[in-house]
Amino acid sequence: MIAILVGPPGSGKGTQAKVLTGKFGIPQISTGDMLRAAKTAGTLDPRYRAIMDAGGLVPDEAMIELIDKRIDDADCKNGFLLDGFPRTVPQADALERLLAGRGLTIDAVLQLDVARSLLEERLIHRRTDKRSGQIYHLVYNPPPPDAELEHRADDRPEAVGKRLDAYEAMTAALLPYYEAKGLLRRVDGVGKPEEVTARVLEALGRVQSEES
Ligand code: AP5
Repeated sequence: MIAILVGPPGSGKGTQAKVLTGKFGIPQISTGDMLRAAKTAGTLDPRYRAIMDAGGLVPDEAMIELIDKRIDDADCKNGFLLDGFPRTVPQADALERLLAGRGLTIDAVLQLDVARSLLEERLIHRRTDKRSGQIYHLVYNPPPPDAELEHRADDRPEAVGKRLDAYEAMTAALLPYYEAKGLLRRVDGVGKPEEVTARVLEALGRVQSEES
């Protein structure tokens, strides 16, 4: 299965991806995680680091190159779940070309819907365990006392507004793009994470039954 999770910052893409990859035995490909790993390793272009920290979008060409290499890894042979890519129509066009060149197609694009007022609150209180990558929320899903917590630079209030604006301005064009291809499935992203997972699985089930 090749599926894409689309949604604004804080809509729960990472939270859901971690559950879904466990269930389907396919990897999560998160461009945000890949960029942050490069940042920690000191290999990220300093211009991209500044863009990320301020809440902007890294140039399309750099992101497309990253995905082109990643989908050839052995763990992708039975499919993958894209989280945070594509974010723009040029990225979506490039993905289609990359997949077509390998004889592959997208099965579903899942859009997580959450109101902007809830997103800010989710992001500002998000913390990630550096060792396990587990995502927590200080109020809704508090971390255990021994977690080694990290507060993302782009989760500070001054960057959060900019990220939400960037999503609305640039990725809003993605939804009609995938809708026109008949791939888009809207999922209500409000409620307990396990309730959202049940809705995502139901949407994926519908895709599989439509295909058979
Ligand atoms: P990226 O890492 O992709 O960040 P994002 O899209 O902003 O998404 P987030 O990781 O912030 O949110 P999420 O939807 O995964 O939510 P989460 O599950 O953590 O990208 C970071 C940056 O990298 C970008 O700004 C850009 O600069 C660059 N970049 C990456 N990809 C790029 C691309 N393709 N092109 C260009 N630039 C790119 O949940 C958030 C919080 O809510 C957590 O605290 C969680 O515990 C809580 N939560 C989750 N679900 C629920 C729920 N149901 N109820 C209550 N709380 C919940």
